[in-house]
Amino acid sequence: MNTEYVLEMKGVSKSFPGVKALKGVDLAIKKGTVHALMGENGAGKSTLMKVLYGIHQPDEGEIIFKGEPYEVKSPIDALTIGVSMIPQEISPVPNLTVASNVFLGKEIISKRGLKLLNQKKMVIETQKLFDELGIDIDPSVMMSKISIANAQLVAIATAVSYNADLVVMDEPTSALTDKEIDKLYKIIRDLKEKKNIAVIYISHKLDEIFSICDEVSVIRDGEFIGSDSIENFDKERLINMMVGRTMDEFFHKEEAEIGDVVLDVKNLTLSKKFEDVSFTLRQGEVLGVAGLMGAGRTEVMEAIFGYRPAESGEIFIDGIKAEISEPSDAIRHGIAFVTEDRKQTGIFPDLSIKDNIIMPDIDAYLKNGLLNGKKIKENCQEQREAIAIKTPTLEQLIKNLSGGNQQKVLISRWLLTTPEVLILDEPTRGIDVGAKSEIHRLIGELAKMGKSIIMVSSEMPEILSMSDRVMVMFEGKCSGIISREEATQEKILQLATGEKLSL
Ligand SMILES: Nc1ncnc2c1ncn2[C@@H]1O[C@H](COP(=O)(O)OP(=O)(O)OP(=O)(O)O)[C@@H](O)[C@H]1O
Ligand SMILES: [Mg+2]
Repeated sequence: MNTEYVLEMKGVSKSFPGVKALKGVDLAIKKGTVHALMGENGAGKSTLMKVLYGIHQPDEGEIIFKGEPYEVKSPIDALTIGVSMIPQEISPVPNLTVASNVFLGKEIISKRGLKLLNQKKMVIETQKLFDELGIDIDPSVMMSKISIANAQLVAIATAVSYNADLVVMDEPTSALTDKEIDKLYKIIRDLKEKKNIAVIYISHKLDEIFSICDEVSVIRDGEFIGSDSIENFDKERLINMMVGRTMDEFFHKEEAEIGDVVLDVKNLTLSKKFEDVSFTLRQGEVLGVAGLMGAGRTEVMEAIFGYRPAESGEIFIDGIKAEISEPSDAIRHGIAFVTEDRKQTGIFPDLSIKDNIIMPDIDAYLKNGLLNGKKIKENCQEQREAIAIKTPTLEQLIKNLSGGNQQKVLISRWLLTTPEVLILDEPTRGIDVGAKSEIHRLIGELAKMGKSIIMVSSEMPEILSMSDRVMVMFEGKCSGIISREEATQEKILQLATGEKLSL
């Protein structure tokens, strides 16, 4: 049978306890096209793709792949038949080399009969693969030594290396900056044009969808809403289909009253990470921190929060010198930190949403040595409503939430500690348009209440729409601090790439 479709999913349903995640979803993917799968957090995108990849078994529905009925019981089955996937939450094995991670499950054995891994050959083959894709990572280093961005590139390379007919990319750019995203675009174009491979592309960044995709399908609350070619979409129609109403893509922060200096960071240095970083943060101010991946932004924030203290330099809070050598010191000084890497430093996967929310501030819920269940419930419920955490119950394990909803839980956690200084590292990564503007609104409100906010972000529109001032970092140094009025995309990029400002 010769059809124009590589994949047809028809009437696919899948329930989890308390949630009907997919309600008869249809999805048809043409050969050699890039197909965006869009929908809000919790819409069911990842679940649909996990059904396709053999991680979940569907309750109902039919799948046709290359004209044949498709039944897979595991990712290995899917890979054998020709479907590969970059999962939304990548799980690299830290104590293996990059090459071993690429070859996980298809290791090269040294000699027939002898189960010895041929590390050398795997390194050579991985190097070839990376060269072909234009990826600059040493295949022989340990996975634990590379950044999240690079880990994501390794996951992309791994998925591509299977020579599948269909590659699913579930938020492949969540940790990548523009330069690396361009690399990914090139990889995708090559797959499509040179090899006629189809790609299902999931992302909340609308610009990406319009740059790289040919067709779009939208699902909402587990239901198929519609499919069309990208020419027939503009942002407004796409958002409308996803959220079921019209709204702006970006929230614009209102002017808040800017008060005294709350945080004064002086000459912070940690060798090989950052050098001589100084800045101030005032009451009611949102300081955006821009820069390319690896510029040292996260490391500076980690130092301020005491995860990895600086070797030299000083931090003053309300004019008084603060000794911060571990996170509990920072918390005592009224600093909160929402980390960028929710999987490693953020969530406790096997605990409930409720427990994840109250975790850092558990003392606040103790009454006569007992946990005050009523207060916990009320506070969590309030947060759930305020930022729309999509879950049937707060008792749900956090690992079962969609990616974007996990991020919302992390933000709630820190909001409840009522911090004075809130450090947000990539706060809306992986968050849908609706929730994103909710989080932006929340940041605006917090600033208005007199909180001071540091927002590290790789998304230029977010930096521009939310920041009162923008600090830009380049290779571990602060390359400039510009005001809201002065800030433009061009200036920020110049500073982020180490150029002098051409004013
Ligand atoms: N293993 C699971 N157990 C229970 N519920 C689950 C499980 N996996 C997903 N869900 C629920 O199914 C729904 C769909 O989740 P899914 O991860 O598919 O959303 P998504 O569209 O990928 O969202 P996001 O954009 O946030 O990644 C959500 O309500 C989620 O909480
Ligand atoms: Mg998802």
